[in-house]
Amino acid sequence: MLRGFALSFGDDLIAALRDIVTQAPFRRMHTPGGHQMSVAMTNCGSFGWVTDRTGYRYDPNDPETAKPWPPMPPSFRALAGQAAAEIGFGGFAPEVCLINRYVPGARMSLHQDKDELDLGAPIVSVSLGLPAIFLFGGMKRSDKTQRFRLEHGDVAVWGGPARLAFHGVAPLADGEHPLMGRQRINLTFRKAR
Ligand code: SIN
Ligand code: FE2
Repeated sequence: MLRGFALSFGDDLIAALRDIVTQAPFRRMHTPGGHQMSVAMTNCGSFGWVTDRTGYRYDPNDPETAKPWPPMPPSFRALAGQAAAEIGFGGFAPEVCLINRYVPGARMSLHQDKDELDLGAPIVSVSLGLPAIFLFGGMKRSDKTQRFRLEHGDVAVWGGPARLAFHGVAPLADGEHPLMGRQRINLTFRKAR
């Protein structure tokens, strides 16, 4: 957990984020089971994580526009690389940044990030906006979870023996963030291939 690690990148991140979402707007995707997620998502990078009735996958194109996802901004890449290096994962070169938008009440149930081929690379997760309770468990869904409060600028990195740990986000509490408004944005950087 790198508290406040993203703060020095703040303005660049927010400006870059604005550009991305004008090209690839947030959308609430459906799980293979047909459930519509409460979290709205988009991506940047050479692949994006998508889910629909056919399953989960990394797609080089945005299915909404059939165009490539917006490129990963240099500030995103630098932040992810520096955060990973800080805890011992040197040379982290993510191809994907999944961008999650939580409004009050939105949540993410416990899951593993296991659609990536290279499980040697960590996941780097950056929180912006309203605080959230991040649940971090073990290798089984039923394992006890630890609760971490993630605030604007916090970065969480998990890898190595924790790479496939179950994790999720509790329903977002209502509030108003001075920079980001009534929402939480989470960036997760992944090496997909
Ligand atoms: C995720 O697991 O992809 C998102 C985690 C978060 O929003 O903090
Ligand atoms: Fe995840």
